[in-house]
Amino acid sequence: MSKGFFITFEGTEGCGKSTQIAALAERIHALGHRVRTLREPGGTPIGEEIRHTLKHSKDNHAMTAEAELLLMNASRAQLVREIIRPALANGEIVLCDRFYDSTTAYQGYGRQLDLAKVKSVIEFAVGETKPNLTLFLHVPAEVSAERVRSRQTNLPFVRDRIEEADQQFFARVAEGFRAIVATETQRVKAINAARPIEDVCAAIWEIVQPMLPKVGRW
Ligand code: TMP
Repeated sequence: MSKGFFITFEGTEGCGKSTQIAALAERIHALGHRVRTLREPGGTPIGEEIRHTLKHSKDNHAMTAEAELLLMNASRAQLVREIIRPALANGEIVLCDRFYDSTTAYQGYGRQLDLAKVKSVIEFAVGETKPNLTLFLHVPAEVSAERVRSRQTNLPFVRDRIEEADQQFFARVAEGFRAIVATETQRVKAINAARPIEDVCAAIWEIVQPMLPKVGRW
């Protein structure tokens, strides 16, 4: 049995996950917990190389949906064994920017791969390591598209293969997340993220604080 607590963040592009993860990590740390923030794909040296191949490599145009599914889960298998399991065993609070719900939404619904096969690949990658809580940050499609556009305009341009997909793809991804929220009601909590940052922070804290293990109990 692991002693830590594992929280994952999910949502479509531009839903504000990074800002909220940083804010939550600070609050949890202030309570005296050891907290670790990770991202997927990535989070380990091997995972970051896979992330580059998946997103930014100039040679990734021909990637098939099946290769994408397996690479996402290769990165995950590494992250789970190299970092997440030891951190949880050590009593840490682990915050991960995306985890397997993104695979269901993007590769299952978005790329339209067979959902049962997607599930079995995920299960092979994670084994028993599943989030205690998943926060789904919901923003309407127009807000998501606008935030991606402004990120592309305001930051130095870095090509991202996944962001190049069409609007129908992102509509299917959003539908995938809706289906996950509707079925995984115990684990997954949806949060309206189309509000000021502080309001989203407060809504997250209301859910997370009562669930945290007591400091010093492990
Ligand atoms: P992000 O770190 O900016 O959210 O980028 C990660 C991208 O990878 C994002 O477009 C979602 C996508 N993704 C998948 O398609 N499947 C997955 O399993 C994960 C973890 C991410």
